[in-house]
Amino acid sequence: MANEASTDDDWTWADDSDWVPPAIDTKTPSVARMYDFFLGGKDNFAVDRAAAEQFLKGYPDVADVARANRAYLARSVRAMAEAGIDQFLDLGTGIPTSPNVHEVARQVHPKASVVYLDHDPIVVVHDQALLADDERVVTVQRDLCAPDDVLNDPHVRSVLDLDRPLGLLMIAVLHFVDPVSGPSITARYIDALAPGSQLAVTIGVRDGVDPAVLAEHELVYSRSNAPIHLRTLAQVDEVLTGLDVVAPGIEDVHFSPHGHVVGARAIR
Ligand SMILES: C[S@@+](CC[C@H](N)C(=O)[O-])C[C@H]1O[C@@H](n2cnc3c(N)ncnc32)[C@H](O)[C@@H]1O
Repeated sequence: MANEASTDDDWTWADDSDWVPPAIDTKTPSVARMYDFFLGGKDNFAVDRAAAEQFLKGYPDVADVARANRAYLARSVRAMAEAGIDQFLDLGTGIPTSPNVHEVARQVHPKASVVYLDHDPIVVVHDQALLADDERVVTVQRDLCAPDDVLNDPHVRSVLDLDRPLGLLMIAVLHFVDPVSGPSITARYIDALAPGSQLAVTIGVRDGVDPAVLAEHELVYSRSNAPIHLRTLAQVDEVLTGLDVVAPGIEDVHFSPHGHVVGARAIR
């Protein structure tokens, strides 16, 4: 589905009095909506805020983490654009937050194309409202764990040319993919990309954090629409196998006693 949403007539009232399309589950915490809450957004429901408040007890600086993560995304897109890349595939994009990928990329390439992809229908609803008139930006509701379906999606192909270098973004999303299939899923995307393409990842890791603290994080997310699977640094390395990792290599996006997020950018 690309930029498709139900009509207003299909929408119902959520328990906290927002208009909600029928595809939106307001009873299960959504990781996209929890992240929106951490970033100070308003696109979340009571169930998301309750889960986010619970998470904050074990990770009081998570808003700083979310902001540092967005800054890492913007820096990565800027660096890719300055290297000549003018098309981007943002997997697990989240509810739109400014500056978003197309805004950063267009500071360098005014006609840059972007596919925003997420499995959560809330993202499509919000992107549609913001980006309906932009022919070079498409939002697709899909599971990133089916790379062939993503890569063959006609909406994706309508704005991305896989024969030219592309910026692949997997920012704060791989820890929602199980660690066994994660590397092969990433590898399938990378195999499909033209030489000169780049990958940027950020990911939550276990290294340096008390396992009891991490178990609390995992418990909160086990009740959400996407359980969390924090990685080891060695597992992050595995995702980057076969790519030229840009200096300084895997770096801290944010580190505290409550959690550890790392990032890396690499060239195919
Ligand atoms: C923490 S948010 C990160 C948003 C954005 N990438 C950022 O870093 O600012 C994770 C996003 O990944 C999405 N997501 C999780 N699992 C996914 C999957 N299997 N396929 C597509 N999207 C997924 C969630 O719905 C959510 O919007």
